[in-house]
Amino acid sequence: MCGIVGYVGNALSTKPLDVALGGLRRLQYRGYDSAGIALVGPTGLTVVKRAGKIDRLEAALFENPAPPAYAGLGHTRWATHGRPTDANAHPHVGGKGRVAIVHNGILENHLVLREELAASGVAFGSQTDTEVAAHLLAAAYEETGDLTAAMLRVVARLEGAFTLLAVADDAPSTVVGARRSSPLVVGLGAGENFLGSDVAAFIEHTHDALELGEDQVVTITPETVSVLGFDGRPAIARPFTVDWDANAAVKGGFSTFMNKEIHDQPDAVAKTLLGRVDAAGRLHLDELRIDERLLRRVDKIVVVACGTAAYAGLVAKYAIEHWCRIPVEVELAHEFRYRDPVVGEKTLVVAITQSGETMDTIQAVRHARDQGAKVVAVVNTMGSTIPRESDAALYTHAGPEVAVASTKAFIAQIAATYLLGLYLAQLRGTLFADEVRAVLTELRAIPAKIERVLESEERIRELAISMADVGSILYLGRHVGYPVALEGALKLKELAYIHAEGFAAGELKHGPIALIEPGRVVFVVVPSPRGRDQLHAKVLSNIAEIKARGARAVVIAEEGDDDVASLAAEVIFVPPTPTLLAPLVAVVPLQIFACELATAKGLDVDQPRNLAKSVTVE
Ligand code: G6P
Repeated sequence: MCGIVGYVGNALSTKPLDVALGGLRRLQYRGYDSAGIALVGPTGLTVVKRAGKIDRLEAALFENPAPPAYAGLGHTRWATHGRPTDANAHPHVGGKGRVAIVHNGILENHLVLREELAASGVAFGSQTDTEVAAHLLAAAYEETGDLTAAMLRVVARLEGAFTLLAVADDAPSTVVGARRSSPLVVGLGAGENFLGSDVAAFIEHTHDALELGEDQVVTITPETVSVLGFDGRPAIARPFTVDWDANAAVKGGFSTFMNKEIHDQPDAVAKTLLGRVDAAGRLHLDELRIDERLLRRVDKIVVVACGTAAYAGLVAKYAIEHWCRIPVEVELAHEFRYRDPVVGEKTLVVAITQSGETMDTIQAVRHARDQGAKVVAVVNTMGSTIPRESDAALYTHAGPEVAVASTKAFIAQIAATYLLGLYLAQLRGTLFADEVRAVLTELRAIPAKIERVLESEERIRELAISMADVGSILYLGRHVGYPVALEGALKLKELAYIHAEGFAAGELKHGPIALIEPGRVVFVVVPSPRGRDQLHAKVLSNIAEIKARGARAVVIAEEGDDDVASLAAEVIFVPPTPTLLAPLVAVVPLQIFACELATAKGLDVDQPRNLAKSVTVE
């Protein structure tokens, strides 16, 4: 996983260091067990690296300030090979300190290369897979005297997934990058250029960017950017403009990114809906560059995703099947990829991903396309791999999500997949135009409803504080409330390290009821009493069963649902919302609860232990 940043400018200054540290702060979501920088100036190469969070690196640089430089690299690590120690932190140097390299990914043939290098007398200073690339690069640089040529030689020897950035002590105006199955984007400045794992790395400095393709080597100098294929031939990189606001990636007065991003949710939904309906009320998804005739012929939709994004897919299944009458399967991307799934030319695969870089989802997309399916990516990060490798992309406009556990991206993914469902229904005539318009009107009302839920934050905080010592919590939901329960349980596990499980409420009697005992806390997502009242009655019976066994039901219910109040220990009311749209409001109290409970336990809600936001290994 790991985050990487690169910079080169035409002035000798502290800017390379400032860009590297600023970029690393924004990329910490990709890993945060060690951090390091390399700088190149007139005095050669300076490398400083420390295990632990970026603060430790900054403290080391405060004690021993680095000299001004022209170029710099930064790396924040999520350990794969070798424990998080100072020695295993990146950058790694080769050739007696002549070159420095940072790496994101896994070099699958590193053991073979290590043996080969060791046999030729190279001494290793770390247990990482990366260090072999540093030594190979040093040798190639010695022979060629050209960092780009040397990088081309190195990538020809490597197997696996990698983004590499490199600098050399006598080339202060050059940074070279290479990418295969790991992310790398270029930021274009005036008299300076940038490289980053994603645009967040340089968003403070420029919004003009280039998307690199698979198997490309990029060389940046202050004035130029040149791109070659791994075969050494000139290659094309696609320019794009980043529409994120630089301020969106700062906490903006909130104590944590998680807190801020929960509060960003009304905006995330509003922006995702924006500009997609014409004056006549018809939905247009301009980015969906798939022939309408093909979309009319689709006979099955398969959603592939991981983690929270997969739960957004589960929510979407209920709506898309109802509106379009097309069967929708939702599958974890890693399971889909390796089980010989039945997909073909009439299958539409929807890959949902915040980062656009989840390796399991990338592999699923590749497999689906190999089988002849069309793939639509529902994605938040521009310039990332999955939209580039898909037939079409539908962007969620949630803005940068920095906290590792997903909140606003989840809500935006539901909104975007709903737009996709409504668009297909419009195209295939399974909904009348006025029905599509009615749902769109309801969707537009969601941001204000989320605002209302956010008003209950203080009460949910008190509830969370009162439960800080609870050892396990169950979550129940029915219909669209079921994936909401799964997501509520996942948030609690991720943020508060408390055992939590989500169940379909109807399944309670088939097993989980054995877990119900006096004092047990059970969150229940209650469907609206209006409309599908059967659902409501059945969930109320579940709450009665929980209560009868002495457990505490904490209930998310619609305002005015008086029946529920008499049964539940606690009720958190949310504004009345049509059943299919209810997840967009019902999940919010569960997110706040997990965040507040983790905060009450003194935990780091933005960077929970062991997790990384963008999992770029399989
Ligand atoms: C990781 C993150 C989760 C995220 C999942 C999918 O496991 O910790 O929060 O839901 O990856 O990420 P994606 O970027 O593909 O949505």
